Amino acid sequence: MLVMDSGLGGLSVVRALRAAQPGLVLHYLADTAGFPYGSRDPAALTARAISLLRTVVMQGSPSTIVLACNTLSTLSLETLRQAFPYPFVGTVPAVKVAAAQSVTRRFTLLATPNTAQSSYSGALISEFAPDCVVDCYGAPNLASYAEQILLGKPVDRDALRAEIAPAFQDDARGKTDAVVLGCTHYPLILEQLQEVAPWPVAWIDSGDAIARRALTFAAQEEPAVGASIAYVTAAADQARYEDVFWREGFTKVRLLT
Ligand code: DGL
Repeated sequence: MLVMDSGLGGLSVVRALRAAQPGLVLHYLADTAGFPYGSRDPAALTARAISLLRTVVMQGSPSTIVLACNTLSTLSLETLRQAFPYPFVGTVPAVKVAAAQSVTRRFTLLATPNTAQSSYSGALISEFAPDCVVDCYGAPNLASYAEQILLGKPVDRDALRAEIAPAFQDDARGKTDAVVLGCTHYPLILEQLQEVAPWPVAWIDSGDAIARRALTFAAQEEPAVGASIAYVTAAADQARYEDVFWREGFTKVRLLT
């Protein structure tokens, strides 16, 4: 199984996969040279993902490709499915779960600018939350803040507070009582988000659901043996990301060339 994201965000899905199936051998592609994906041109992003995935599948055919990136999934999933003969599992914002849970009937989709503006997200909202006020907020820097925190560099609390402030609304149209974590980076900094949130909300993440879906494909494959390998796409990141990947059970970090 291959998990792909622009950076470390997909580790939230890796953790869910490993919690459901300890010892699972999986490979990870972090397009660190392309990070962040949140505001990149969608067509360029799709072309880039096709080219990187072509290179990585040459190292060994995956049984399943998990796009552990909401941005790539909402923009490119269908094109990628057509380009490769492998099953793809995408990650999309858990709007349905939020609509089922929200008591105030007002919640926020907190995501990258690309995901927040995507027609895919709009369609999810029309289908699953027609009776809710849904604020779609594309946070310009939040994935980068998460990446920084995961690499051990602290982020200023006031900057983090200001970054998520628009996700909290309280006016005549209702008060936000749930926030959909529509980017895989965000669950990894949930503690920090809770600390700067202006009031408590339900934080909704799709990691466990994605892991369950991906494992239905894994169950059909031969048991994988060998090391879990992480690939990065920028030479400088091989050493920089080593500790994080080691902690997450990847024994080798390779540069994808
Ligand atoms: N982790 C990604 C997502 O789920 C992308 C973050 C980024 O590269 O901006 O959307």
